[in-house]
Amino acid sequence: MNHEHIAQTFDHWAAEGRDIGMEQEHSGVALAVIAQLGIRPGEQILDLGCGNGWATRLLAKSAAGATAIGVDVSPRMIERAEHLHSLTIRARYEIASFEELGFKDGKFDRLFSMEALYYAVDLDRALAEAHRVLKPGGRADVIVDFYTESPSTQVWPQKTGLSMHYLSTQQWQQAFERAGFVGVTTQRVHDERPAPEDPLHAASKACGSLWIGANKRA
Ligand SMILES: C[S@@+](CC[C@H](N)C(=O)[O-])C[C@H]1O[C@@H](n2cnc3c(N)ncnc32)[C@H](O)[C@@H]1O
Repeated sequence: MNHEHIAQTFDHWAAEGRDIGMEQEHSGVALAVIAQLGIRPGEQILDLGCGNGWATRLLAKSAAGATAIGVDVSPRMIERAEHLHSLTIRARYEIASFEELGFKDGKFDRLFSMEALYYAVDLDRALAEAHRVLKPGGRADVIVDFYTESPSTQVWPQKTGLSMHYLSTQQWQQAFERAGFVGVTTQRVHDERPAPEDPLHAASKACGSLWIGANKRA
């Protein structure tokens, strides 16, 4: 799997309007998590795998003077983000891969990622980059629905045609620790909205999303 293949896949998704579907599917859990983050005025936030940037904009609006940058490897997702952007929001969007973020060391106070990191071509390198661009004492909050304790999701790689990291909760925790993060916590978050009709989707919702929280040593 390489970045070009991932970008092509998500470019198609953007062209088909599936970015809006993802926003609808993911926003229940994302809103519940963002509400608990305690984002402070002026914080600089990175949204990894931002898609059309809906969460990037929410993050930027969550505290006075906060700014958010969304990165995504799919140029069409970034085009969608720019199209949906409003000039009153302190957010911007860049094409970049998780494995090679073009930011200086320690730029961000926080990092957020919704339903994206398991697509990393090289997960250890992606997490090392995430750790590098955080300030000392910075914090990462990552949400994934694709993990082994949510067994109905194991068909996703076949459905998407992409190779994906199918890790257990413990393996996610260990991956963050290998990258240098400390105080790594995991918890399930449930979408309180009515369950979707599609049985596979409903089964994954019943298991909940996995929220991984991790700190960079101060
Ligand atoms: C399932 S979508 C989620 C998008 C958005 N976070 C949301 O919840 O709507 C995953 C996104 O991650 C991006 N992505 C996947 N692998 C990537 C990589 N290695 N580097 C950067 N972006 C990547 C994809 O292009 C896609 O837009």
